Parts: sequence; structure tokens; C-alpha cells
Amino acid sequence: MTTSPSEALPEGVLRVETLGYRGKRYELPIFDAASPVVLTPQPLSGEAKEALRVTSAGSLVVRDLHTVFDARHFAEARRPLSLGCLSADELRVFARPGAVRLLDMPIKMPDLAEVRLPRALSQFAGAIQRVLDAEVQLNPHHADYHAYLTIDQRWVAPGTLHREAPCHVDGFQGARWNPKCRTNHSYTVSDVLPTAYYVQPFHLEALDERLHDFFWEMNAQVADTNEAHRWQPQDAELTMMDCYCVHRGVENQTGAPVFRTWLRLSFEERRRIFDRLGNAHNPLFDYDWPMVDRDIEQLGLRAFREGGDPSLSVFPWQGLDGKPLPPGAPKTSPRLRRA
Ligand SMILES: [Fe+2]
Repeated sequence: MTTSPSEALPEGVLRVETLGYRGKRYELPIFDAASPVVLTPQPLSGEAKEALRVTSAGSLVVRDLHTVFDARHFAEARRPLSLGCLSADELRVFARPGAVRLLDMPIKMPDLAEVRLPRALSQFAGAIQRVLDAEVQLNPHHADYHAYLTIDQRWVAPGTLHREAPCHVDGFQGARWNPKCRTNHSYTVSDVLPTAYYVQPFHLEALDERLHDFFWEMNAQVADTNEAHRWQPQDAELTMMDCYCVHRGVENQTGAPVFRTWLRLSFEERRRIFDRLGNAHNPLFDYDWPMVDRDIEQLGLRAFREGGDPSLSVFPWQGLDGKPLPPGAPKTSPRLRRA
């Protein structure tokens, strides 16, 4: 583990530790607990409440809130729920450069209504307040949930993705979760390059969670349809998805570097402790979870389909032959459209 020099750090970050395992590198900001930002849910105005009632009517994401994970739901095409766009003023604050990157840090604990943010994250308080207000309105069981915050801000080079990954869902419960827990739901927003969602049925009934990589089969089914069901929110549009909303980041196709700020706030029921090594620690809560190194590669899963396009069934860090790419080589992207 190494520590970065303090002079380059955002205000309120004491240091950034870096750690790595199995070729992956994580940055772990260590936050100053002084002068935190504490948010509490605020009731929506009558007009806002009515607007949310109308937009959420018929939403499968809302219908399946607080239900137990069941892979049969992938067979239903679903799109995230829109919660509107950040205003120009909100966006200016949200996208301010110099934000610290962090992964899945708890900012809300079960049985506590309030959100606690280290002051280094104060630029995100506005977006998080919007999430919190909507969450309380939509989820009658919000007290049972953790909320985990991920922030990623960086330059995205032309032809690359901010966060390289195959088509996937957040909050998939594989063989490790037995019995299954309640579903995850996550709110996300980015200032540019909004995530692509695939609003189509995914037929995964024949897959075995102990053997098969479900994400690779999602890739393959998106490619089968030539990305015909791709849907993207607008820039700065706040959306709510659940663990059945298949999605993927999009390449920067502008031909020039793009500076992108992305936020995800994931709500997970009380049994879902995010104890993965590399997740940030919130000094504003008293908890001490033993952190473990864990990733999907360890599970030894294989593609359900044999043969076919190898780009649809390798990890981004692997070449088409399945061997690790050399350091600095471009990551492998799934070919989701026919040439
Ligand atoms: Fe994701």
C-alpha cells in the first residue's frame, strides 16, 4: 500500500492510499471527519410528489422495490426511472473538477435516516439530497437500507470508456447469496456520456449461477439484437435502476478527451455489507468490517454459449484469446453491433 503526497489532495482528504490485487489497482481516500455534511430527507412539494407519482406509475423498478432477488425478472424488459435532470446551477457544482474518486462507501446505515458525507464530498450534496428525497417517497422500507456512494471523475480518452465493463447489472446475486437477499436499487447521474441501458428481455433461464457468467450471456443477447434496444438518458439526468437493468458505459466518440463526473448511490438491504477491499471507509460511522479481496474472476465462471464471438466472453483485461493483455494495452470491448 502506498500513500500519495498530501499537497495534491482535495480539501478534506487526509491522504489517498493505493492498493492492488490480481492486477487491479484501487485508490482509497482517507477522509477527514471534521465539519461533515449531514443530509436528512425532505418532504417533496405537492407538485413534485404528484410528478413522481405519475412518472413512476407502471415502473418495474418501483414495482420490484424491496422484493427478493429472482433471476426470472430478467425476462422482462425494463428501463430505469427518470427523476429529471440536474439544473445548470446544480450541474456546475456537481461537475467541479478536483473531486476525489471513491468506491462503494456507506453514507447511510440501516435504521438511520440521515446521510453523512465527509466535507470533501460536499459538491455532491445537492444530487444526493435529490436522491434521498425521492427514495423516501418511493421506498416505504428505506430505513432497512444502506446507501453506498461511488464517485468517479476523470478524463475519458477518445475511443475509450470511463469504466470499462461488459453489459452487466449492479447488484447481481450469484451463488454466494443463498438464500437471496432483497434487490439492490441504484441512482446514477453523469454530466456527460450517459450510460447505455438495454431495454429488452434477457432469457437466462437455462444458465446455472454456479457455472455460467450471466454478464457474458447478457452481452451475447445484446449483440444478437445488434443493440436495437439501447436507451440512454440525457446528460445530467438522474435515474433509478435496479439489479435487473442491464447496462454498459459508452465510448467517448467525440474525437477529443472528455472530462466526466459520475455518481452512483446504491441502496442495499441490511444484510448486504459491502466489505470488498478497495471500498472507501466513512469515518462518520462507527463500523469495522473485515475487508476481503473478491471479484468475479475468482469464481471461475464460463460462458454459457460455446464458440461465437470471443469479444463477448472475455474480461476487459483479457485479449480475445483469454490471456491477460500487456500493461497499457487498450482493454477489450464486446462487439455489440455487426460491422
Ligand atoms: Fe454498472
